[in-house]
Amino acid sequence: MTEESGLKDLIVCHTRISSISDDQLSYAGYNISVLMDNRASFEEVIYLLWNLHLPTQIELKHFKARLRANYAISDAVEQCILIQSRKHLHPMSVLRSTVSLLGVYNVHAEENSIEATYEQSIQLMAKMPTIIAAFARLRMGLSPIEPREDLSFAANFLYMLNGEEAADLEVEALNRALILHADHELNASTFAARVCASTLADIYSCVTTAIGTLKGPLHGGANERVFDMLKEIKELGDAQSYLQDKLDSQEKIMGFGHRVYKTQDPREKYLRFMAKELTVGTENEIWYKLSRDVEDYMKNAKGLIPNVDFYSATVYHVLGIDSSIFTLIFAMSRVSGWIAHIQEQQKNNRLIRPRSQYIGQSDLEYIPLERR
Ligand code: ACO
Repeated sequence: MTEESGLKDLIVCHTRISSISDDQLSYAGYNISVLMDNRASFEEVIYLLWNLHLPTQIELKHFKARLRANYAISDAVEQCILIQSRKHLHPMSVLRSTVSLLGVYNVHAEENSIEATYEQSIQLMAKMPTIIAAFARLRMGLSPIEPREDLSFAANFLYMLNGEEAADLEVEALNRALILHADHELNASTFAARVCASTLADIYSCVTTAIGTLKGPLHGGANERVFDMLKEIKELGDAQSYLQDKLDSQEKIMGFGHRVYKTQDPREKYLRFMAKELTVGTENEIWYKLSRDVEDYMKNAKGLIPNVDFYSATVYHVLGIDSSIFTLIFAMSRVSGWIAHIQEQQKNNRLIRPRSQYIGQSDLEYIPLERR
């Protein structure tokens, strides 16, 4: 293991939640293509990740009811979002502090029995869309919209964000994007959440840790930069020279490359298809076409594959989501995986505390301050 290895290919825990093998992704034994082809709902997938089996009809009905009953956030939390929305903070910083605040306002936040953690999990999961939609609207000077318990997770989010019920195709696109982002084995934010959980910290601390880790541009923060790049290319009118300049100056192209996948990111093809389906014949088709140009160029010039962040940028844009909150949408989905891993860590816990190899100087002589 070298200093630069970034723990590449190192196995550090056992999990039953998700697996990546031969460039395929599975959730609790179900290949994501099976879930996508059978039009699973995001709620079913959350249940699967948390319980390691698909719900029966009754289980799903109860699970959805519990989620929906917890969609609403308190006035106090909404006030805090309002204050933060006026401060030009990074949206992920607002999400991070607001999730932390949910823990402050939950009188049972420090209870860590399996039942208490499950209840906190439902509350956290259910409130994420409400927090994100409220922030997005308050930042634009609009009033937040109350959640609707008669709508699914995806439909309710788009309703709270845009102020009107979304078309079925849009709801289905978000539902599918949420499933594709739900879990991804030991990615950086999930690892961070598990380390935090291994200290027996509360679930709000663990999810806050994960949000901070997802924020960075080498992880979740890539998708908002993908759309910024597409806008710059549209302005310039020439994808090739734009990308060549970036590569010549050793810059990374956002939405390309992956630590684990080498031949394909199995989530990408679904997002590419959705981007096409949602844009063809509309004014948004330009984003799909530009994306194809960038993809072709990157394949030929560097042999690099698009990752989950690349086409999700176009999909989110078409759904009326501003690029500055793309990473929040990622978090709204990935929180399901974080929670699954936190619960799994708690059930069979041992403190995660690796070692480092010291490579600095040693046995130095202390020189008194007045002589330095
Ligand atoms: N653009 C240009 N070159 C790249 C890119 C890229 N996006 N990704 C990798 N490369 C090149 C590197 O420069 C390096 O080349 P070299 O061997 O000539 O030095 C080689 O490919 C290996 O790249 P590493 O950065 O060492 O690969 P690593 O596994 O450490 O990083 C990562 C993977 C962080 C995803 C990287 O590909 C990257 O920075 N991509 C852009 C950011 C991005 O899209 N992140 C989202 C990832 S998916 C997710 O988190 C949801």
